[in-house]
Amino acid sequence: MKTYSIALIPGDGIGRDVVDAAWEVLEAAAETAGFALDGTEFPWSCAFYKETGRMMPEDGIETLRGFDAIFLGAVGWPKEVPDAVSLHGLLLPIRKAFVQYANIRPHRLLPGVEGPLKAENFDILCIRENTEGEYSGAGGRVHQGMDNEVAVETSIFTRKGVERIIRFGFEQAKARRGKLASVTKSNAQKYSMVFWDETTQRLATEYPEVEVTSYHVDALAARMVMAPESLDVIVASNLFGDILTDLGAAIQGGLGFAASANINPDRSAPSMFEPVHGSAPDIAGKGIANPMATVWSGAMMLEHLGETQAARRIMKALAITTGKGIGTAPGKDTTAKITGAVKNALTTL
Ligand code: NAD
Ligand code: IPM
Ligand code: MN
Repeated sequence: MKTYSIALIPGDGIGRDVVDAAWEVLEAAAETAGFALDGTEFPWSCAFYKETGRMMPEDGIETLRGFDAIFLGAVGWPKEVPDAVSLHGLLLPIRKAFVQYANIRPHRLLPGVEGPLKAENFDILCIRENTEGEYSGAGGRVHQGMDNEVAVETSIFTRKGVERIIRFGFEQAKARRGKLASVTKSNAQKYSMVFWDETTQRLATEYPEVEVTSYHVDALAARMVMAPESLDVIVASNLFGDILTDLGAAIQGGLGFAASANINPDRSAPSMFEPVHGSAPDIAGKGIANPMATVWSGAMMLEHLGETQAARRIMKALAITTGKGIGTAPGKDTTAKITGAVKNALTTL
């Protein structure tokens, strides 16, 4: 039987609940489809940091390299470990080391989910640059704590990095409805963002079938609320993509629905699948985290592994579940009830 090796990193807070829930669904889908998922769990988290002084062991990246994919819950427990330490110690190095430069985040309403907008028929795919830009980690602080303190955070945009993500956006748009929104703030940021706009225009000549529009990120944020149906594929830098995809999550009914795939398009290293949301300390331990974002991310993982039928069945099971009114609003149903309903829906397909 075909077996895929999956590294499981539940992480912190509700990461544990949603990974367990999604894994149950993934295993059920694999069994019916006739393949197996061999999960190996890693306890890397803020609790691990408190025990060992590291978010993952020194050879953590090398350990992960041999897996077919990585499935992650959430990282961060700011009450005990500063976010800049936990995220730069685990999640962000994985994205960078495995050149997962395309972070794919779909935003659409599952049936029966009431979003905050009047619009219902939007279907947006946000492509977020995932390895450089504002997240480069370059910078420093001088005169800390003094009146003349200065903090510098440098965004690094390379030709290679910008070209490949915009090209990825064009390819996605070509395969969908043929519309690409390229996002910058080139009216204020005159180096990196002008470079991004120029790259978009240059690549546009290779994709005459794609209608490309350059938006400023502020205007695009407003458009996502006022006219989400007018958007198809969005391509944005690391930070802008981060912010726009929490907005995307909001218009699709909440963070419990927003899935994400950190893809290494060249397949030179494993890709990583995780929900858009974090560890949700405010609801951790209450058993009410919505696992749908993580289940959806799991479907994206199966799709990436080539198990398209199983991925489609999971998406249908999610739609059946929300169609019955289960899990449609934050806190409405328990994680266990939603997971049971999705598994049950799978058996009816
Ligand atoms: P968050 O996404 O954890 O939570 C924001 C809000 O959304 C909270 O009210 C939370 O209860 C709600 N929410 C999130 N996921 C939900 C779900 N599945 N079901 C129902 N409600 C849900 O954002 P935050 O509070 O800013 O961050 C908490 C911690 O997580 C921080 O340490 C942050 O750095 C980290 N974080 C990690 C990731 C990641 O690992 N990819 C992503 C975002 C935030
Ligand atoms: C996300 C998260 C992370 C990011 C944080 C936790 C570093 O918000 O995956 O959207 O900004 O990439
Ligand atoms: Mn985010």
